[in-house]
Amino acid sequence: MEILGVDIGGSGIKGAIVDTETGELKTERVRIPTPQPATPQAVAATLKELVDTIGYKGPIACGFPARVVNGIVYTAANIDKSWIETPVEKLFSETVGSDVFVANDADVAGLAEMAFGAGREHKKGKVLIITIGTGIGSALFLDGKMYTNSELGHVILHGDSAERYCADSAREREGLKWKEFGKRFNEYLTHIEFILAPDIFILGGGASKKFDKFKDELTVKAKVIPAETLNLAGIIGAAIYGELRLKDKKKKKDKEKKSHKED
Ligand code: BGC
Repeated sequence: MEILGVDIGGSGIKGAIVDTETGELKTERVRIPTPQPATPQAVAATLKELVDTIGYKGPIACGFPARVVNGIVYTAANIDKSWIETPVEKLFSETVGSDVFVANDADVAGLAEMAFGAGREHKKGKVLIITIGTGIGSALFLDGKMYTNSELGHVILHGDSAERYCADSAREREGLKWKEFGKRFNEYLTHIEFILAPDIFILGGGASKKFDKFKDELTVKAKVIPAETLNLAGIIGAAIYGELRLKDKKKKKDKEKKSHKED
């Protein structure tokens, strides 16, 4: 199916219509800077602007940089604190005027990688996708099935959330050379490997484009490969997530219809 996938990030809100069968974009990618401060109302208005610019009518799905459970935002590590406990799906759906589904950004990037990227050959076993950007995001897959809303960027390393030490924003903030960054990131991966023992790590997010510059520092036993869908993962993965939610919705409706008939 074709659905509008949107990637909501700290600096830009990006979207395109995606063919979920092939993972191809059916329209140009549109990017609008994230409003500052990025309050719920301001981001909702920007989402509407994006949808209107594309001229799209229909269901929409978004990747969002926080824990999102049943349409509600529960964390705000790198976003405006006023997001906490915001019913994001309700807010977006009402603002845009159509169904909007929302999930964690790393989870949706993981869905894209598993379907069309570096994870497509790894449908068996334990796959851990780590996105390295402003924060560190994570998506865990066991035999192709996702364990949602993990927050492995927040394991404690050197007394603080690991993302403070080795996200791409830490590299920029501290002016680290790629080799130095690689050493830090390796500490992090070694810790995660010790805890979760994945078969393979797939690294996504901005820093993964420079994988060649830090890969030599990585000494974990598991295979480590860069993501393939790169900066489109958020958009493609959101669309995949939207399709899953629409299928769920249909199933629920069919079940309800059936039980009404039986009454
Ligand atoms: C957030 C995660 C998010 C990650 C990447 C972290 O700070 O807690 O929910 O997936 O950043 O954006």
